[in-house]
Amino acid sequence: MSPLSERLVAWQRSQGRSALPWSGSRDPYRVWLSEVMLQQTQVATVRAYYRRFLERFADVQQLAQAPLDEVLALWAGLGYYSRARNLHACAQAVAAQGGWPRSSAELERLPGIGRSTARAIAAFCWDERVSILDGNVRRVLARWLAFDEDLSGTAAQRRLWAEADALLPERAEHMPAYTQGLMDLGALICTPRQPRCDDCPLAADCRARGANRQLELPLRSRKLRRGVRENWWLWWQRPADGAVWLQQRPPRGVWAGLWTLPLYDSEAELEAAAGSAGLEPLPRIKHALTHFDWTLHPRRALWRDGPLGEGRWVAAEALASYGLPAPLKQLLGA
Ligand code: ADE
Repeated sequence: MSPLSERLVAWQRSQGRSALPWSGSRDPYRVWLSEVMLQQTQVATVRAYYRRFLERFADVQQLAQAPLDEVLALWAGLGYYSRARNLHACAQAVAAQGGWPRSSAELERLPGIGRSTARAIAAFCWDERVSILDGNVRRVLARWLAFDEDLSGTAAQRRLWAEADALLPERAEHMPAYTQGLMDLGALICTPRQPRCDDCPLAADCRARGANRQLELPLRSRKLRRGVRENWWLWWQRPADGAVWLQQRPPRGVWAGLWTLPLYDSEAELEAAAGSAGLEPLPRIKHALTHFDWTLHPRRALWRDGPLGEGRWVAAEALASYGLPAPLKQLLGA
């Protein structure tokens, strides 16, 4: 049987994904942009955002020169906004250095570029012989090797990285297809709950499959305990023109830097802030984030006068140029 890397490269070229907007690119700017967008977001969602970013920012210098607020506005809806802030910071660092570095080790020092992302860019653009281990690839390799250790430990992670290094193709020019092949196999065949082992180019010597353990591996590390959160949202409308009062979130934490309605921890606090204004209750909104499920209770009120604290009035036509979290976009019909 031929080595894993050869089978994977052949499979990627015949069955893997090849029509993605970033497929086959050797341009670090395009590859980096796609990899950062794809870190926690599905291909189907990323496509349109990727296209809009490239239309607006043709290269890393243009992105570096843009105001952060514009980048956040274009990113709105993709979630995990620290990625957008890091994207902007990274573009500025690259522009300041006069261009992209030429190795994964240097890429990894830039904002928002973790080890797997740095190595994916280096493999795609420069054929660098380095392994990646994002969630999909980790699952593929842990199964193929029947790797039994709990990957929440750093020692176990180090051993899996070493195994991944040992499986790299010998010929550097195979690195792009090999790297994409691992990603594609994880996304299309070696899926978490219903792996399609009958269609897998690695099934013949997959140790998990041999022991019928593919659904057990990789070992689930400590289960993330999701929290719940509940907040009240005050939607002030100015009667004269329908403008809404928005506040910018602080630079850290949930929705960092995005614009939202004033948020309160209880209905009583919201009512105190609204004073004598009549409150119109709107259907509650459920929003899932990585670490908690969020329930938001919007209340609409007409503003007559009185101080509103931090924030600004934003006209309906101007909403599109503000970075709004997805549930707020929906609520405001923006
Ligand atoms: N997810 C992460 N990187 C990817 C890529 N290059 N193609 C498709 N999905 C991905």
